Amino acid sequence: MDVPETVTAALADRPVTGRVCLEAGAGVGNATAGLLDAGATRVYAVTNDREHATAVRERVDNRTVDRIDDEIGRAAVLEADLRRLPLTADSVELITAHGLFNVLPPASLESVAAELTRVATPGCHLVIDDYEPLPEDAAVRELFALENAATELAEGRPALTFYPAAVLRRLFVGYGWQFDRERTLLDPVPWTASHVEAHADATRTAASEVPGELGADLTAATEHLATAIGEDSVGEMYSVALRLPV
Ligand SMILES: C[S@@+](CC[C@H](N)C(=O)[O-])C[C@H]1O[C@@H](n2cnc3c(N)ncnc32)[C@H](O)[C@@H]1O
Repeated sequence: MDVPETVTAALADRPVTGRVCLEAGAGVGNATAGLLDAGATRVYAVTNDREHATAVRERVDNRTVDRIDDEIGRAAVLEADLRRLPLTADSVELITAHGLFNVLPPASLESVAAELTRVATPGCHLVIDDYEPLPEDAAVRELFALENAATELAEGRPALTFYPAAVLRRLFVGYGWQFDRERTLLDPVPWTASHVEAHADATRTAASEVPGELGADLTAATEHLATAIGEDSVGEMYSVALRLPV
């Protein structure tokens, strides 16, 4: 699996070589792979999803088979909550949150920011890559609204929240981080047919747990909307970099 260009672009001006890194919210481990490629000494890939942890372990193992000389032991996949990391204070020199914050509900923001700050060394770098809120007339925004409605009803939390770069920047400045730079990674963002289908599927799953007519209505609206959208190109993905003072 290739490292996405967004990851490579976000890390291009960051000092990764020789650093102990943390991928906060590992997903399929795109940033973990990017950090290993860029010469990280060690990468902790943290996710609270067992299937994601397995996928990242397999990805790292496959890389190890290909490059047996230098990669053994450089990556550690941790199945853990970002609000309670199994890492000591002052132990991580570079943190990536690539596509993490949009899946974090507002209620988790402060505790995740506090915990990332606790494990960061003085001088630690932080890279946050995420999506600006979508324009009101974006078709795909309606699908995300349905996904949020179904997830709120089924689980009592939103599935997705698109935080402006300025909000996350101010959040971390409040924890003592200094703003370094911001850049655009994608503009517009290509929401491909497989992205749309993945979000439609997540919406269907949540809607199936909503009892009665409401659940059925959400499912019907999802089918209609996903077909109507197909794919969409809209919005912006940004990269914000900060640093803790030495
Ligand atoms: C969209 S994926 C991130 C993509 C990934 N960084 C990449 O570049 O491929 C979000 C990840 O964050 C994880 N996650 C969300 N909330 C979390 C939490 N509170 N603690 C740990 N992991 C969390 C999800 O399980 C998922 O693995």
